Amino acid sequence: MTSIVVVGSVNADLVARVPALPVTGETVLADSMTVIPGGKGANQAVVAARLGGDVALLGAIGSDAFADIALVGLRDAGVDLDGVETVEGPTGVAQIWVDDDGENSIVVVPGANRAVDADVVARHHDLVAGADVVVLQGEIPLRGSEAAARAGRGRVLLNLAPVVPVATDVLALADPLVVNHAEAERLLEESERPVPESPFAVIAELHGLGPRSVVLTLGPAGAVVLEPAAGVGEPVVVPTPHVEAVDTTGAGDAFVGALAYRVSQGDTLVDAARTAVRVGAFSVATHGAQPSFPTADDVLPSVRA
Ligand code: RIB
Ligand code: NA
Repeated sequence: MTSIVVVGSVNADLVARVPALPVTGETVLADSMTVIPGGKGANQAVVAARLGGDVALLGAIGSDAFADIALVGLRDAGVDLDGVETVEGPTGVAQIWVDDDGENSIVVVPGANRAVDADVVARHHDLVAGADVVVLQGEIPLRGSEAAARAGRGRVLLNLAPVVPVATDVLALADPLVVNHAEAERLLEESERPVPESPFAVIAELHGLGPRSVVLTLGPAGAVVLEPAAGVGEPVVVPTPHVEAVDTTGAGDAFVGALAYRVSQGDTLVDAARTAVRVGAFSVATHGAQPSFPTADDVLPSVRA
């Protein structure tokens, strides 16, 4: 049995480093460009595998030259790729600009990721159903994510990045729902619920949407965790170590992949988040998403504890 199955996107990231992000209508000259593997699904799978997890990915690549680049990090990390289908046409691509403060703008062209629908999940039903943890994001068709959530018999980790209008029964399976502050605001607005100021009130509103547990990520301010089933009825703040941010691209994915790994090892969500904030912080200290993700040795002792 594979303990973690990620059903999600695989991209090639075209990363340009710029002194400052362009405003509308502006042309800026970049310092450099790199082409590296990315995609939120692939990133999360790579992190979980680098930390020591037994991980499979369900997704799709295209028939172009970007396909091999998109898979190289997954292969290196030892992620099981039997569930990655090849479809005619372009591989998913993300155009990413990173400025001198480590902030970014990202445009994703989904390409082959659009093929990851309910049929793909049905073809790999046993893999998904057998997983201890199924990890989902918002970069593949909603029908694919929903089918995976419903097929799974293990725990569903639902990272609504970006926010998509997921069905109520799927939200009710989320254990946890993971969002950052901007995604939380969006999700609450779209659900016509109030968007409170304090993170504690935000997490209570998110819990009101029906998930079993919630993790709200707050960048350098860490994360807030609400896991009533673990006997903790109140939100718990998990602070993050301070690091100089070089590139925050994929920090959320680093967090989610680490969270999935620790949960698959039996951690409570609060304990899992204590590792996940360290993994996320490690990743922002160097360039790129996947190239910056740690191994277990990099973030000892909490990862193996
Ligand atoms: O979360 C970061 C990721 O978002 C990048 O790797 C890019 O591919 C986009 O999917
Ligand atoms: Na990074």
